[in-house]
Amino acid sequence: MKNISIIGLQWGDEGKGKIVDYLAKDYKTIVRFQGGPNAGHTVYVNNKKYVFHQLPSGLLWGNKKGIIGSGVVLDIETLKKEIEQIKDINFKLIIDYRANIILPYHKLEDEMEESMGGIGSTKRGISQAYRDKYARIGIRVFDVLNEDRLKIALKRNYEFNRALISSRYSKEIMSFDEVYEYVLSFKNFLLEFSSDAQYEILNEKEGIIFEGAQGTLLDITFGTYPFVTSSHTITSGIGISLGIPLNIIDENIGVFKAYTTRVGKGPFPTELNDEIGEYIRNKGNEYGSTTGRARRCGWLDLVLLKYAVLMNNINYLILTKLDVLFGLSEVKVCVAYEYKNNIVDFPPVYDLENVKPIYKTFKGFDSVEGASEYISFIESYLNRKIVFVSYGFEREAMLKL
Ligand code: GDP
Ligand code: IMO
Ligand code: MG
Repeated sequence: MKNISIIGLQWGDEGKGKIVDYLAKDYKTIVRFQGGPNAGHTVYVNNKKYVFHQLPSGLLWGNKKGIIGSGVVLDIETLKKEIEQIKDINFKLIIDYRANIILPYHKLEDEMEESMGGIGSTKRGISQAYRDKYARIGIRVFDVLNEDRLKIALKRNYEFNRALISSRYSKEIMSFDEVYEYVLSFKNFLLEFSSDAQYEILNEKEGIIFEGAQGTLLDITFGTYPFVTSSHTITSGIGISLGIPLNIIDENIGVFKAYTTRVGKGPFPTELNDEIGEYIRNKGNEYGSTTGRARRCGWLDLVLLKYAVLMNNINYLILTKLDVLFGLSEVKVCVAYEYKNNIVDFPPVYDLENVKPIYKTFKGFDSVEGASEYISFIESYLNRKIVFVSYGFEREAMLKL
């Protein structure tokens, strides 16, 4: 049995949840390695909709092991609700001792920052929790297990955040005792589920899916900074987030939509601010699984996709939401950019505001078979095989190529 990764190749919402669920049938363990409840991974099984924010997406088959790894930032309150949602399903859960905890005032800061003109975050306190992690004042799962330890760590974290909130946002926050009691109320839950997940993964050897959250272009360093999330969303992020060597992974599978979407602010070269963009948004139901925001829609951008394929060392591709394009009279894909008076096919991701897309146009199609020319072109441009096409939200709407 192999170990695989499933990575989003665009700006998130590529359909990772559906694909992880589909493939998880044949795997034992599914690991979330980064991000937090900013993720919204949708899975439909037997006409029932599940949206996973923190739990891995592959647990619905029953008797699977889910791991929330060290690189994740965790909102324990939402996690408990998610577990409740699937309480009839048998699964094992391990939360790494090192995962950092999102505190109530992180969410408050995120909201305040957005109200002052942020980057269009999900307001889940993600960047604030990662900030505290890297400033070495974060609260980790392991801290919650020991009251003396928690008190010392939380005091430091609280003082920093209180000063920030009072000076920058002119707001008072809850008292130290309130935060302390809030965090401590999760102690029994964490005693039950937390463990050394790095050790587990290093000893597991096979049958693992590493489930990416967000997407390649939202990577903290290699995405469209500053309009990115605060973790490493790319394949290399698996190693650094979990403390494991990357050669544990046999195959990296890249998931991408037949078009492009993004939520929040930031450059988007192939964005369609017209009736075709509107058509895609309505037909593809492109509204955020986490925040309900309308997603911006545009044509497939092969320049960015090729960058993602190379950076993530992608072995195979899975194309999703092809059905959304059925019925259009023509379909375009971006094959190069005009940039500083040159034609380029490697994206200046640090200056994406200044590229102009160059398109190739295809005749429209109404079925997966009818899209064969479109699919072959993508495969040859990216020099990778598309192994599955997803053509509907249902688990069964998958064609193996
Ligand atoms: P994720 O964040 O990558 O897991 O993706 P989301 O769940 O946020 O968004 C993908 C949306 O598209 C979800 O509502 C899925 O149910 C839906 N979806 C996935 N694959 C397909 C597909 O092939 N066709 C259609 N029409 N919908 C799909
Ligand atoms: P999944 O896993 C799409 C975007 C936000 C914002 C930026 C930073 O479902 O694909 P953050 O709250 O992380 O500080 O927001 O990243 N973003 C996502 N966009 N899908 C996601 O997750 C996202 N998670 C964050 O919209 O632009
Ligand atoms: Mg999503």
